[in-house]
Amino acid sequence: MGFVEGKIDNEKPFRGKVFPKTYLPGGGTSDHDLVELVKDDRASLWEALEQHGALLFRSFRVDSAEDFSSVVDAFGWDEMPYEGAAGRTKKSNRVFTANEIPLDEPITFHHEMSQIKEPCSKIFFFCMEPSPEGGETAIVPSEVVVERMEEELPEVMEKFSQVGMIRILHTKVVEEEDGTKKKIWQRMLKSEDEDEARKRAMEKLSCNSLNFNEDGTADFVFGPMNPIRELGGKRLWFHYIQNYQCFDRDGIVTYGDGSPLPPQVVSVFDRILNENCVDVSWRKGDVLVVHNFRFQHARRPGKPPRSILVSVCK
Ligand SMILES: [Fe+2]
Repeated sequence: MGFVEGKIDNEKPFRGKVFPKTYLPGGGTSDHDLVELVKDDRASLWEALEQHGALLFRSFRVDSAEDFSSVVDAFGWDEMPYEGAAGRTKKSNRVFTANEIPLDEPITFHHEMSQIKEPCSKIFFFCMEPSPEGGETAIVPSEVVVERMEEELPEVMEKFSQVGMIRILHTKVVEEEDGTKKKIWQRMLKSEDEDEARKRAMEKLSCNSLNFNEDGTADFVFGPMNPIRELGGKRLWFHYIQNYQCFDRDGIVTYGDGSPLPPQVVSVFDRILNENCVDVSWRKGDVLVVHNFRFQHARRPGKPPRSILVSVCK
């Protein structure tokens, strides 16, 4: 017996399909063999991901980073390394910790690796330990965000199409647990040498310039660029427009001509994201696959021992 269709309470329809589509073990299925079930049903799961944008596998026995890595392998998509600003630790073959910023801080909606020239097309999440409260991963169809912003703020969308946006990513210097100072640009670009790091930034990232500051911080300038990107025939809100501050980096967004975004732009944008998303409440062992060229994801504030692992595919 294969999968049976499940349901989570707050799932939503998008273009007639629910997201996420939930799969449970079928009758008689041992709870050990998600890997075999995925291999047996691979083509229909690929099609389901195209249709629904996100698939949730619940109540299977997936216990460890190694188990999770085998599940990801079973889908048959090409592996790719994680590239980007977030701190991540490798846990197993093709598996990393999720973003390591403190659990009580939210992570805003984004497409994974949106600052990279060739971002991943799929992202997998695996719940090692749920948060005792909060800590959901929220997902939203990115096309809806574009459509709703065009309805609500047509003049802003017109200005984005004319002058684009600029985001300056300011990476900081942080103190490690052992007291050493770490320059975040070095972690991000996997080099301690400025010339080599600049070369890597221009090759891998979609940034237009990079300035190293004397205090060890760095400023990456992305844009001017349109926040909307067409991928796989869909118009996606690919570059987030919210400013943010966290312990290792800040992001500041303006229009492409340097003028500030009117304050209501970000509040309307946030409302649209939150009106159209589904918050997935984690259960231990859950595996969630998200189509990164169709859906954005976010992290709600949570508490220890929340532990989510991720894997990305080409
Ligand atoms: Fe992410």
